[in-house]
Amino acid sequence: MKIDILTLFPNMFTGFLNESIIKRAIDKKLVEVNLYNFRDYTDDLHGHVDDTPYGGGAGMVLRCQPIFDCLDKIRTPDSFVIMLTPEGKIFNQKMAYELKDKKHLIFICGHYEGFDERIKSLCDMFISIGDFVVTGGELPCMLVSDAIIRLLDGAITKKSLENESFNDNLLDYPTYTKPRIFRGMEVPSVLINGDHKKIEEFRNSERLKKTKELRPDLLEDKND
Ligand SMILES: C[S@@+](CC[C@H](N)C(=O)[O-])C[C@H]1O[C@@H](n2cnc3c(N)ncnc32)[C@H](O)[C@@H]1O
Repeated sequence: MKIDILTLFPNMFTGFLNESIIKRAIDKKLVEVNLYNFRDYTDDLHGHVDDTPYGGGAGMVLRCQPIFDCLDKIRTPDSFVIMLTPEGKIFNQKMAYELKDKKHLIFICGHYEGFDERIKSLCDMFISIGDFVVTGGELPCMLVSDAIIRLLDGAITKKSLENESFNDNLLDYPTYTKPRIFRGMEVPSVLINGDHKKIEEFRNSERLKKTKELRPDLLEDKND
């Protein structure tokens, strides 16, 4: 998979791309990630990428030209272009699974007051990370691409993905490690006795119990 990211702040991605599972996925060539500072594509002599809004109002609006020109250079018939925007569909695990099969994702990160509305005509999808506003599209882009990259074959073990939260519209089961008793809190005995059938039953029932308690809305979706 190739991921191209259009951003005015490429340095924000340094830690994200150079640590942990994402770094390993890049090193193993499961994914190639390229950062494009669309300021490099502006035709403005002073390097401006934004301007005041027509009709007045607060803030600066990202201009069409730098983003259109940048996309003209990098877009191919395989590209799927995603705008990070609070107006988008709220991201979830199902969308991560759908997007992991795309060959080429292009993310456009906004900043300031947001985008000139006409930039939307370039996009195949609009993603929000929730009903709140952050400063720019960089953090949303990192969240969304992290969720996708870790699903790529070979990024983490298949086993780790099997019972993850949101698979089958359930949360994950509770996990414990040594010591068996910590400050009076004991690991459930069923996990100690080595009976794999019982352990599986316990984990399945805990997944259901936890989901009923914490996220009953997921179970409603399951019945849709
Ligand atoms: C300060 S925000 C602009 C907010 C815009 N004026 C509004 O009220 O909807 C700047 C950029 O951050 C990104 N952004 C902010 N909140 C987001 C969210 N919840 N999901 C995805 N992207 C977001 C978008 O790329 C947006 O263009």
